[in-house]
Amino acid sequence: MNTEEKLMKCLGCVKEKTGFEPKVALILGSGLGGFGKKIDARAIVEYKDIEGFPISTVLGHEGRFIFGYVEGVPIVAMQGRVHYYEGYAMSDVVLPTRLMGLLGAKALLLTNAAGGANFSFRPGDFMLIRDHIASFVPSPLVGRNIDSLGTRFPDMSHIYDEELCSAIRKTAAENAIHLQEGVYLQLTGPQFETPAEVRMCRALGADALGMSTACEAIAAHHMGMRVCGISCISNLACGMSSTPLTHAEVQETADRVSTQFTKLVAKSIAAIGQILD
Ligand code: HPA
Repeated sequence: MNTEEKLMKCLGCVKEKTGFEPKVALILGSGLGGFGKKIDARAIVEYKDIEGFPISTVLGHEGRFIFGYVEGVPIVAMQGRVHYYEGYAMSDVVLPTRLMGLLGAKALLLTNAAGGANFSFRPGDFMLIRDHIASFVPSPLVGRNIDSLGTRFPDMSHIYDEELCSAIRKTAAENAIHLQEGVYLQLTGPQFETPAEVRMCRALGADALGMSTACEAIAAHHMGMRVCGISCISNLACGMSSTPLTHAEVQETADRVSTQFTKLVAKSIAAIGQILD
């Protein structure tokens, strides 16, 4: 089965389970799945019940779509995403993103836990993603182009929608939430970077490092969704602090700031919903 056939099969399977039409798609990052409680859920679809769907194996990542309302806006949230380092092809990693677009979501709000490479960042900061560097991971668009989704050679000069970025900025300011801004760089993982790699990434212009997000942004932008993203800086990248990095630290920080994160994401969804009206 090719990528398009697989996507359409998964789409059909989800549509059989719910007719809910989301306006905004949300991907919840490592340790940020607690946002699920904020959703006035109308339907839940477990990834394992979608035939052919890639399933996340990472601790701290549940595996389901939650359909429902946040601040009155119809959304679909992914509680648990799939990562390239789990061994899936990049086309499978972005299948859920494309599926949410085909279900009707006009905008995608990406979240993740990321390592800070910028010396002015602190663990627990939030960073609005202004642009990304995806050159270290395979493109999700490799392979036969799915013409029904988008063009073979899509422009990437404005992946992160300026109007949505402004709405998130404004939302953070109104709620007295400090918001950093910067460039997200995606690496394959699963190992954290070496200090030399972190220096390289910083020299290339990266402010935050992670193992997701940019591929999903590319796939969503390719099919015409409006994209925005927020990183939770869960730790300083390797070599920037004296303690070794662990996945537990990533989760601990996400837990510590989850109340603020929930507020920022919920209010941002409300603002994005208004823009899409
Ligand atoms: N590097 C890469 N990915 C990450 C990190 C990091 O330091 N923290 C959370 N995700």
